[in-house]
Amino acid sequence: MRISETPEWRALAEHHGEIGHRHLRDLFAEDPQRGTDLVVTAGDLYLDYSKNRLTRETVRLLAALADAAGLRERTEAMFRGEHVNSTEDRAVLHVALRDPRTSGLDVDGHDVNAEVHEVLGRMASFADRVRGGEWTGHTGERIRAVVNIGIGGSDLGPAMAHQALRDYSERSITVRFVSNIDPADLAEATRDLDPASTLFIVASKTFTTQETLTNAREARRWLLEGLGGDETAVAKHFAAVSTNAQKVAEFGIDTENMFGFWDWVGGRYSFTSAIGLSLMVAIGPERYRELLDGFHAVDEHFRTAPWEENLPALLGLISVWYVDFFGTQTQAVLPYSQYLARFPAYLQQLCMESNGKSVRLDGSPVDVATGEIVWGEPGTNGQHAFYQLLHQGTVLVPADFLAFAQPNDLAHGRDLDGMHDLFLSNFLAQPRALAFGRTAEEVAADGTAADVVPHKVMPGNHPSNAIVAPKLTPSTLGQLVATYEHRVFTQGVVWGINSFDQWGVELGKVMANELAPKLQSEGAPDYDSDSSTNALVRLLREGAGR
Ligand code: F6P
Repeated sequence: MRISETPEWRALAEHHGEIGHRHLRDLFAEDPQRGTDLVVTAGDLYLDYSKNRLTRETVRLLAALADAAGLRERTEAMFRGEHVNSTEDRAVLHVALRDPRTSGLDVDGHDVNAEVHEVLGRMASFADRVRGGEWTGHTGERIRAVVNIGIGGSDLGPAMAHQALRDYSERSITVRFVSNIDPADLAEATRDLDPASTLFIVASKTFTTQETLTNAREARRWLLEGLGGDETAVAKHFAAVSTNAQKVAEFGIDTENMFGFWDWVGGRYSFTSAIGLSLMVAIGPERYRELLDGFHAVDEHFRTAPWEENLPALLGLISVWYVDFFGTQTQAVLPYSQYLARFPAYLQQLCMESNGKSVRLDGSPVDVATGEIVWGEPGTNGQHAFYQLLHQGTVLVPADFLAFAQPNDLAHGRDLDGMHDLFLSNFLAQPRALAFGRTAEEVAADGTAADVVPHKVMPGNHPSNAIVAPKLTPSTLGQLVATYEHRVFTQGVVWGINSFDQWGVELGKVMANELAPKLQSEGAPDYDSDSSTNALVRLLREGAGR
């Protein structure tokens, strides 16, 4: 049965008619415990969802919807290793990547935990050797710079986490990330590096991705040029992370230096696979294990907690409430942490590549809205850019505000002049202003001229979640990412879509391969595309002097 045809969906539609227009001011006034009751915890994470346009009854109805959608059964099927990615006939087992147990899960005839721990052990010994200076380059120099070459899921996770966990990283090793096929990316990342002390980690699940292989080839050229052309240098300066040993070998990387993973790890869910190798080099194997344990804590919470106390599931269900009953189309993620500057970008792939779908598992078109446009920037910077629209625009934008009670130990014990408290006061103020706003009477009471009053009225009733952890650590970062992974899963199950394929990105790749020769050919190419593309090809060729 379609989710929209279930009594649970209809009950929510009816309920929306009753409470959808209610103002958060009134909901708070009527329920004095709201701010302390509409709260859940998972591991170190505290979610306050009281500033959402819902009541306790809404949460009860959303939990019933989760049951009607089979969320419990689908979750168990995923954790058991069933092929829940039906269009690719694959298990979806990123949760096994962080399971501390070393045996027990047999999937398609493989002891998954044992294989995971074997790779983790090799990664740890590699990371230790690089960090300790034991792994040397071709000329015997120790490694001072690690450049991860990968894109999408083979870049965003470790790149985001490396930035997030800088405070925990080995500062004597520079770690950089190159993803874009724009030649500027690799050129800028390598311009001040010495080939003799640089190690490239080429990360690609398929090892066929145009951007990654092109950058890797160019990196190899740069290395060999810098080291006098001796091909044997490649073995000392290139490692690979992939599921495709054959392609790695064809590229010329010694498979001794390859760290594998499996087809049951989706690209955007691969951060805790060997794709995290560059991060492990930066923060060390122990911190990396803390990160995995953080993920695991939330995996177990998601698997076992009842929906009404289940932090990731609640986030997913609340978003369904907005997308399908209020008609919202975007979700802002606003970390009050400069370290989490790349977190929204990471979530864009996780959420939008997963749930940007319009057919159900059985191939029939969806009849409810799915997916959301995820965007955001760290506070307080965003406050001086786009928050105006959140406060007084005509669009309803649910927002997740993220913060940490303690700052990282940047000043090594020095008093930071109360900066972190000032920072957090903004984290408190913005959701409060969004929720409760300012009435015309309140504005007028300040002595504002009557004709200016309407411009200063803040309508309020803009919903948000607050997610707080004690401190940004490897563990809390893992808990946060796992939370959003399971939020995505929850949404996908309710919408009845496959959150684990991404056929939509393929067509553009095929077309790019067809168009590349038109830009590169010596003579005039066939102008056989559409009239717009033909004109742009002409323009770009002329611009490049062809
Ligand atoms: O953008 C499509 C995609 O397949 C992502 O899902 C994936 O993370 C990315 O490309 C990179 O793929 P690979 O790791 O195979 O290079």
